Amino acid sequence: MEPVKIGLLGLGTVGSGTVIVLTRNAGEIARRAGRGIEIAHAAAREYKRDAITGIEHIGRIGEDAFAVVDDPEVEIVVELIGGYSPAKELVLRAIANGKHVVTANKALIARHGNEIFAAARARGVMVGFEAAVAGGIPIIKALREGLAANHIEWIAGIINGTGNFILTEMRDKGRDFADVLKEAQARGYAEADPTFDVEGIDAAHKLTILASLAFGIPLQFERCFTEGISRIEAQDVAYAEQLGYRIKHLGIARRCPEGIELRVHPTLIPHRRLIANVDGVMNAVLVKGDAVGPTLYYGAGAGSLPTASSVVADLVDVVRALTTDPNNRVPHLAFQPDELADTPILPMDQVETAYYLRMMARDEPGVMARIASILGEQGISIEAIQQKEPGEGDTHVPLVMLTHRVREGQMNQAIARIEAQGSVQGAVMRIRMENLAG
Ligand code: HSE
Repeated sequence: MEPVKIGLLGLGTVGSGTVIVLTRNAGEIARRAGRGIEIAHAAAREYKRDAITGIEHIGRIGEDAFAVVDDPEVEIVVELIGGYSPAKELVLRAIANGKHVVTANKALIARHGNEIFAAARARGVMVGFEAAVAGGIPIIKALREGLAANHIEWIAGIINGTGNFILTEMRDKGRDFADVLKEAQARGYAEADPTFDVEGIDAAHKLTILASLAFGIPLQFERCFTEGISRIEAQDVAYAEQLGYRIKHLGIARRCPEGIELRVHPTLIPHRRLIANVDGVMNAVLVKGDAVGPTLYYGAGAGSLPTASSVVADLVDVVRALTTDPNNRVPHLAFQPDELADTPILPMDQVETAYYLRMMARDEPGVMARIASILGEQGISIEAIQQKEPGEGDTHVPLVMLTHRVREGQMNQAIARIEAQGSVQGAVMRIRMENLAG
């Protein structure tokens, strides 16, 4: 049978990895897909020709991405440019031209996925996006197919490799934030705008996609609560360790009676949990299903070949399904498109979680008791409390507390009251805490 001809948009980190994997594993890929996969046409503005093994097999390389999506020879368009625009226009035009699409673009799917999937459905084409979440980990396939029997209760994931790399290097080697970020950029992990990594936007894109697949809801990126890692201080990392916790930047989606929690923020988790020990650029997603219990998916969350692994897996899936009836294909968001639910996403002040609090309290009698009584009045129960040694001549000492679970709205009120105390200096550091027990 003739090989399937694909068009490739982008020859950057993931694009070059995709060429390498398609070339290196061509024989096995063809045996799996039932047909060979040939890159007929690629578009890229800049690329490192010498670093891309197999580039000589690409039929044609130009600069015009629209020429690729309009190329009649191309059956599947692989979008690896990233960003919202022109990726959205390119993908919609490819779909309008009747071409299937594979993309690694989480920003595009999280923000415009509802529109893209509706267009794809109307045109009877497939859109694969395994590479959009957690790099090389096949988490989309696991949620959409492997866990299809389950009522998914919650998901918690380390889903940004750059952020995890930064936190790990800071903790293990005491390295400087900016220096580690530079290394992540050099290794091709970071987004074009690295604030997407450190402020949690990239993780929020990915969590939005996972929540849709898990709970059968439309993509709602704008409702995801997002807090980054840039406020985390070395002393919090150290205090967390002393208390038996690690700080990880987690994406959490949880089904509650009132709605769905959708949030990305630094989180203390017990250090004995497997996920607490996921370091460097590695990602991990913990999924709790009612039938299967907790399951954990682990692997490289960014990088050229790991992400290409997911892109090529999608290509194999699309090639296998080219001749199937569009109505019998696996639905893009796991649930049949007419069966998506309008379950509300909860505002953050209704989310319930435990907390780590750190504040600088004046070192004099009654201060700790006053803070404890404010928490008590707000219905917040303290699980642990530690006052650290004052430094030579210090008037204030760090006070670290762990609380039981409470609604964020109540905690906000308590923090405002504590910060208004003359005996507390500066802002209270609050880091949410999750047990993640199965
Ligand atoms: N910037 C992303 C990360 C790339 O660091 O996880 C993979 O999506």
